[in-house]
Amino acid sequence: MPTAHASTIPATLIAGDGIGPEIMDATLQVLDALGAPFTWERCEAGMAAVDRDGDPLPPATLDSIRRTGLALKGPLTTPVGGGFRSVNVRLRETFQLYANVRPARTLVPGRFENIDLVLVRENVGGFYVAHDYYIPVGDDPRAVAVSTGINTRADCRRIARFAFEYAVRNGRRKVTVVHKANILKALTGIFLEAAREVAAEYAGRVEMDDRIVDACAMQLVLNPWQFDVLLCTNLFGDILSDQIAGLVGGLGLAPGANIGDDAAIFEAVHGSAPDIAGKGVANPVALMLAAGLMLEHVGRQDLAVRLRAAIHQTLNEDQIRTADLKGKATTQEFARAVIARLG
Ligand code: NAI
Ligand code: MG
Repeated sequence: MPTAHASTIPATLIAGDGIGPEIMDATLQVLDALGAPFTWERCEAGMAAVDRDGDPLPPATLDSIRRTGLALKGPLTTPVGGGFRSVNVRLRETFQLYANVRPARTLVPGRFENIDLVLVRENVGGFYVAHDYYIPVGDDPRAVAVSTGINTRADCRRIARFAFEYAVRNGRRKVTVVHKANILKALTGIFLEAAREVAAEYAGRVEMDDRIVDACAMQLVLNPWQFDVLLCTNLFGDILSDQIAGLVGGLGLAPGANIGDDAAIFEAVHGSAPDIAGKGVANPVALMLAAGLMLEHVGRQDLAVRLRAAIHQTLNEDQIRTADLKGKATTQEFARAVIARLG
């Protein structure tokens, strides 16, 4: 008989670039205090790995994730323009992490209160499949820029099914499909069509409606409470997930999960924040909440709930906040306060 709680679960740990090591350190201290069940395989990726052996995604890191099927990852710097391809995109492709899940809940009451929505983003297709190139004309090697997107019906069905299953499992009432089927008729039309097919199987359990992406962006600001689960194509999901992070207090509070059939990688939505790296002032909440999603993923809802409660109390009852939330706490002070709340 399987035991209710496996005592140790091997998981890959990538500290990441920029503020990555600082917020990861804070998160690991909190997970320790919580008694989280993970045993970490520490691996490198990103600039740290480039500096060491010229490869931003070393084979040993890939092997570890292949073994554990589970990773907690700090942000990785991607050089703009030239340089190497995004490690984040490569990880998604390698492990077919086709679902990107980004919950946004109000933690710090600000402009909007009581927001509780989840964005599910198709993570491997659309405009991110890298058919992005220039065509030379005359003596201009970059006279024309071309980008093509690809969505397959199978991929669209897969992500739609994921969103509806997620809704059922998490007691959500509605899935809103976000598209631009009036203009990108094929690329996002197929997405809407596949979602409608899948939605029919959930009739009576989960509602479905749809929005054109630009209208959706406006309505998210005017009345975000009308939404529950947002199901988006890759590019639209990228944009709207930063927007919903903004609705609930900014990138410092927004976690994300990249989920496939064989592996799942948990991370903060934000990047490596080079402007504040090394100063010890970064907000570790997004990564801590990502660790919370990871606990839920391995069936430790109990620990995830305790973690979120401790973070909530630290922010609101103790009023201990980092500078991005107009507080004075350092990353370490914040971590210690959360640990005190975990008691
Ligand atoms: P960014 O998210 O790193 O920073 C945007 C702004 O938010 C900056 O002012 C930063 O200081 C602030 N910020 C972000 N996280 C914060 C935190 N935890 N606490 C306090 N303030 C925080 O986005 P940016 O500057 O566009 O990207 C920097 C690098 O990160 C780039 O190389 C980019 O490619 C990479 N990146 C990596 C991601 C990942 O690994 N998943 C996601 C997004 C960007
Ligand atoms: Mg993004």
